[in-house]
Amino acid sequence: ILKIVVIGGGSSYTPELIEGLINRYEELPVGELWLVDIEDGHEKVQIISELAKRMIKNKGLCIEVKVTLDRRLALEGADFVCSQFRAGCLDARIRDERISLKYGMIGQETNGLGGFANACRTIPITLEICKEMEELCPDAWLLNFTNPSGMVTEAVLKYTNVKAIGLCNVPVIMEKGIAQIIGADEGDFVMQVAGLNHLIWARKILHNGTDKLSIVMDEILKGNDPLIPSNIPPFNWPQDLLKDMGMIPCAYLRYYYTSDDIMQQEQEEAEGEGTRGEVVKAMEKRLFDIYKNPELAEKPKELEKRGGQYYSEAACELMSSIYNDKRKIMHVNTRNNGTISGLPDDCVVEVSSIITKNGPLPLNVDPFPCDTLRLIQLMKEFETLTVEAAVKGDLVAAKRGLILNPIVNTGTILDEALKETVKENLDYMPQF
Ligand code: NAD
Ligand code: G6P
Ligand code: MN
Repeated sequence: ILKIVVIGGGSSYTPELIEGLINRYEELPVGELWLVDIEDGHEKVQIISELAKRMIKNKGLCIEVKVTLDRRLALEGADFVCSQFRAGCLDARIRDERISLKYGMIGQETNGLGGFANACRTIPITLEICKEMEELCPDAWLLNFTNPSGMVTEAVLKYTNVKAIGLCNVPVIMEKGIAQIIGADEGDFVMQVAGLNHLIWARKILHNGTDKLSIVMDEILKGNDPLIPSNIPPFNWPQDLLKDMGMIPCAYLRYYYTSDDIMQQEQEEAEGEGTRGEVVKAMEKRLFDIYKNPELAEKPKELEKRGGQYYSEAACELMSSIYNDKRKIMHVNTRNNGTISGLPDDCVVEVSSIITKNGPLPLNVDPFPCDTLRLIQLMKEFETLTVEAAVKGDLVAAKRGLILNPIVNTGTILDEALKETVKENLDYMPQF
């Protein structure tokens, strides 16, 4: 019987996680579910735990739900630790977005200057959690969805002894969209992705012995694109660029392929309905009002408007694949080890892998075209320098990384933006 710990239990996504555990109760016998949060999230996590208890009772199951602000108590003897906290909560995300926009850069949770700031707030807390895991549950798996998921996972794998796997819902959404286009059940075809978190390409779509990639590409170019997560506004890809690419870029690549268009769109949104963080803040308030209803005993439909839809689903499936040694193919953040040639072995990549009880075994990736490889290498160097900066408090590493990032401005603008980022985040960036 398993003990599962969720760090950031007050997340509005948690009901999806509960649903995933309920659906897998037979194959993944969870005895205790510990929801850990902080003082600021106390009210949220209480509402979530009440809803979780109703959902579990409604199905007549027996999973004990516990809420605590005492992380050590929760971690003791855990089997799986799911990390889904947001360092600095939504206000920090909004600040990142606004600071970037103020300095003429794309303001986004995981990309550019915002992604850097998020990493610097999150990595020190994650390393503390890992230190406690090494002591209190050394055999547990850490499943990380806390963003920026790839960089956070790289920090854990480089600087701790914790067994960690990073997750994202983007490949899951791509897989579901592809299933819809080719008219196949999800288990009936194989999608292979490779790249970095929020920087992946679908490389193969094997179905009935043939690669359906070009069929899917044709549909996308016709404007039928069900592969985009809800947080990214619908858009059309540059047709000429994609037509002969032979790979399907994930929606986040829009930030690189069409940065100026996005910049303009973001500026308009920021002056209108608000940045994505601001929109999410209002959405979250509505969600918690729904969760509070004592009659509600299932995951409400409104949650689908959040960009992170299905990521808890992926987390539950990953736990079950490890626990049952399912050897299923999933798309995870793990150590490169030569999987993508042209990147260091010890960096973290997001690649399709066979999930075993001993960990993920990544599938061999065809070489990337030169231009794509250069982008991946550049972004990996940005990520690795950001991880180094976040761990060591090294502002020079920070700057060296940021100037490589194609959506970050350089020179005086960067110096000022970086100074403001550190100043506004003093509570969360003790390393600087
Ligand atoms: P959120 O703002 O609701 O935060 C979740 C909870 O974390 C809150 O209840 C908050 O109080 C708590 N928290 C903050 N700091 C904490 C700490 N130090 N220890 C414990 N709890 C803490 O955020 P959210 O929108 O639910 O997202 C949570 C995280 O998951 C974010 O990092 C987000 O980017 C990430 N996410 C990732 C994916 C993915 O694809 N990997 C998908 C969705 C969300
Ligand atoms: C998903 C990403 C997540 C991200 C989320 C944002 O597409 O994979 O990593 O956290 O979108 O969604 P939100 O609703 O918070 O903007
Ligand atoms: Mn993601």
